[in-house]
Amino acid sequence: MSAAVLSVFVEQAKTKYILENPKSASLYEKACLYMPGGNTRSVLHVDPFPLTFVKGEGANATDADGHSYVDLVGNYTAGLYGHSNPTIRSALLSALDAGLSLCSATPYETDLAQAVCDRFPSIEQVRFTNSGTEGNLMALAAAKAFTKKEKILVFGHGYHGGVLLFPDEKEPHGITVPHGFVVGRYNDVERTRQIIKGNASQLAAVLVEPMLGSGGCLPASREFLQMLRTETQSVGALLIFDEVMTSRLSPGGLQLTTGIIPDLTTLGKYIGGGMPFGAFGGRRDIMALFDPRSPSYIPHAGTFNNESLSMKGGYVGLTEVYTPEVATRHNENGDAFRARLNNVAEGTSMRWTGIGSLMNVHFSPKKCETVQEIFGLKDQSLRSLLYFDMLKAGFHLAKRGFIALSLEVTPEHEERFCEAVKEFLDRHQEFVRLQEA
Ligand SMILES: Cc1ncc(COP(=O)(O)O)c(C=O)c1O
Repeated sequence: MSAAVLSVFVEQAKTKYILENPKSASLYEKACLYMPGGNTRSVLHVDPFPLTFVKGEGANATDADGHSYVDLVGNYTAGLYGHSNPTIRSALLSALDAGLSLCSATPYETDLAQAVCDRFPSIEQVRFTNSGTEGNLMALAAAKAFTKKEKILVFGHGYHGGVLLFPDEKEPHGITVPHGFVVGRYNDVERTRQIIKGNASQLAAVLVEPMLGSGGCLPASREFLQMLRTETQSVGALLIFDEVMTSRLSPGGLQLTTGIIPDLTTLGKYIGGGMPFGAFGGRRDIMALFDPRSPSYIPHAGTFNNESLSMKGGYVGLTEVYTPEVATRHNENGDAFRARLNNVAEGTSMRWTGIGSLMNVHFSPKKCETVQEIFGLKDQSLRSLLYFDMLKAGFHLAKRGFIALSLEVTPEHEERFCEAVKEFLDRHQEFVRLQEA
């Protein structure tokens, strides 16, 4: 069946969506008056307009037109705790009751700092920011100051924040901050080794996600991470793991499961208990750069770096809700769920990649092994069709086919989702049939 027929199906799905969501449509029209494209976070834009959600409870979110969905986006990993976790809620209320904007050190940040250092093997000391983007910016500044070198190796399809995005393997462009970036190929062991050796005298750091998050939930190979560890050590560059997304994939992130320990780690998302959050931390000798008792310290500013809600919510979240045992169980469950989805998809072009509670759908005639294969796939229409069909079935996933399971998602939700995916595949057999070898 041709791509033209598929795009007719997508257009039909959009037409139904428009008819069924008049209130979201009119709220979007109003938003367009005051914000470009009616939007203040690009990833939330949906063509023809995004749904406006007005309430969230547990695993469910309700839109302005009264439709209720099981939320499988989980705020792109930040929504791990769901929408109304009672323990987090009471922690936030108690911080609120103690008064905001104290403009001082508080006990909360030390508690959270201790919890973070206890959990992540590379983090001896930590500093907080308000976003993962800022955490990465600060980690890069630290690496350059510590090594007194200039270049940073990153990887195509890596995402490290709104001003640190590398959509392909070309020179960064657009709004990426102007560091001396070299862009490598993710999971390409030999080529990357040569880049590191070739830039030895100038390389300050390698910044890498141990699994590409926005890039399609594609895990780094162990061999790749191990090579990065060995080669950075040999040329005197720092290895920085961006675990903003992946830190939830075990009690201590992917650094714990792989046993490969970076010099610095950046964090974000759920660690603030659902509040705005970011962090960077690592070796004590590197973090000492920021010690204000030293005459030559590097300033690290930020009005809200230690604001009480994220510090308190984050601490309670890590120590009382997402305990090591819960983290392990949650990700075992995610692995089993992804395996079930791949079972349902057996014999079709649908594939689910990921680790633990994070996964992404791809439509590919063969198993997706590399980033190049995934991004070589030209037609994203099936993802659009899946997005609109899943909304009809009562599930909200990211439009790029990304799922981040919250702690509120139950086996019953998962069962129903597998059923809905099966129906999708049956309904659209002609588009998901595997090509003849
Ligand atoms: C791996 C990774 N790093 C950094 C960031 C940026 O975090 P924030 O959106 O909090 O700035 C993100 C956000 O999606 C991310 O996925």
